[in-house]
Amino acid sequence: MQDLPFKTEPYNDHYETLDPENWDEMRVLAHRMMDDAIDYLQNVEQRPVWQPVPNDVKQRLLSPAPHQPSSAANVYDEFKADILPYPMGNIHPRFWAWYMGSGTILGALGEFFGALMNPNVGGGNHVAPLVEQQVIGWLRDMMGFPAESSGILTSGASAANLIGITVARNTNSGFDVRHEGVRAGAGPLVAYASTEIHSCNKKAVETLGLGSAGLRTIAVNADYTINLEALQQQIKTDRAAGAIPFCVIGTAGTINTGAIDDLQALADICQREKLWFHVDGAIGAVAVLAANVRDQLKGIERADSIALDLHKWMHIPFEAGCVLVRHEPAHREAFSLTPEYLAREVEAKGLASGAFWFSDYGLQLTRSFRALKVWMSIKEHGLDRFGRMMARNVEQAHYLGELITKQPELELCAPIGLDIVCFRFNPGGLNAERLERLNRDILSELHEQGIAAPSYTTLKGVYCLRVAIANHRSRFEDFELLVGETLRIGHQLDRG
Ligand SMILES: Cc1ncc(COP(=O)(O)O)c(C=O)c1O
Repeated sequence: MQDLPFKTEPYNDHYETLDPENWDEMRVLAHRMMDDAIDYLQNVEQRPVWQPVPNDVKQRLLSPAPHQPSSAANVYDEFKADILPYPMGNIHPRFWAWYMGSGTILGALGEFFGALMNPNVGGGNHVAPLVEQQVIGWLRDMMGFPAESSGILTSGASAANLIGITVARNTNSGFDVRHEGVRAGAGPLVAYASTEIHSCNKKAVETLGLGSAGLRTIAVNADYTINLEALQQQIKTDRAAGAIPFCVIGTAGTINTGAIDDLQALADICQREKLWFHVDGAIGAVAVLAANVRDQLKGIERADSIALDLHKWMHIPFEAGCVLVRHEPAHREAFSLTPEYLAREVEAKGLASGAFWFSDYGLQLTRSFRALKVWMSIKEHGLDRFGRMMARNVEQAHYLGELITKQPELELCAPIGLDIVCFRFNPGGLNAERLERLNRDILSELHEQGIAAPSYTTLKGVYCLRVAIANHRSRFEDFELLVGETLRIGHQLDRG
């Protein structure tokens, strides 16, 4: 540590700041908070997966902001009473809803230290951007992208997809869309994806001014992967009608059933048709680390851009996503905008020196130090352990599938893709409406009784329970319990 060329006096006790008035008391409180945090996570499986927020708590959460201070200890007590007992549940071993990660203690401490150092990782010459660059380099290598590609950590895959599709639009529209806007095109710009595409891509295309019609959704095969013939036919039809196809979005792990599009074939089509190949790998891209998935992802390394999520199957505490772009200049040209107050002091020394700013690669200027929790987590566990956790979840999905097929009153509703199992309770003799009601009620009972938290979806008109096992705490027995409890509740409700 460098010595300062001058001396400073400690703050005097009456100088008002937002720091604690008594650092010793804060130290004691912080130790207590840390002990509580470790107990909370260590004993998570002894609590219900989920419980509703009581009405009195909801009422207190409507009170106006205080104008006067409280002690930090009082605030913490209030948090412990009214907030800590009612989590979403995704840290619990039997949480399998939507698609979430389960977090880790060091990841949370990384988040804490990121907030404590509190740098702005938009730019500047300090250590945090170097940490993010290192993390991006690790992810780039993991995905098989070339060293000259670029990337940026994002709030999640929604933001990552928006960035990827923006670069695709700006690079591949055939005119200067950044300057002239989409209205200057000779025809409408269109992107392609399967009907199973995640809604955030639709939002991205709409946000980019292409309209929802700017995303052509292509039919899927029986395994919920994109139908390649239909895709090629649609591109041809659109071109003939004067539209400007610019991008195909492949999905590596669809949200409904975990299907992985044929990424090699999509890469070939994009190469042939001169289209940008973007992969929404929010769920499955990181499974290049899992020995029992890796082969299904072949072709992902040929993408022009990939959106991936670290807060899902890598269990980094929310929020942490990433976009990688093969062509760094295209990425920078889509987002770089440097007014005089942010001009780069490339040759200078000091905090503003250096040309590289993360704000050149995305929408945000001010950015948090989310790279730290990723850096700490990857160092703590190593990539191979993450891969083993994912591989085990895939095995658990197939184990659950076997348990389901052994029960005459349960049926699988789709092929098991990655770690996602869709099934329903069907005791026979019920019409579609009654079956849907029954399965909806089973789901709420599983939640309300704090047993397990699957979610739901509708596949080909059939409502089903959906179990997405991105959870490093789930054990095989947890799925036996789920099946047993689904049957118990199902029969109870059916009789009732
Ligand atoms: C396939 C897919 N893409 C994108 C997203 C959006 O990701 P995020 O919630 O991290 O913004 C999700 C979320 O579940 C997803 O499953």
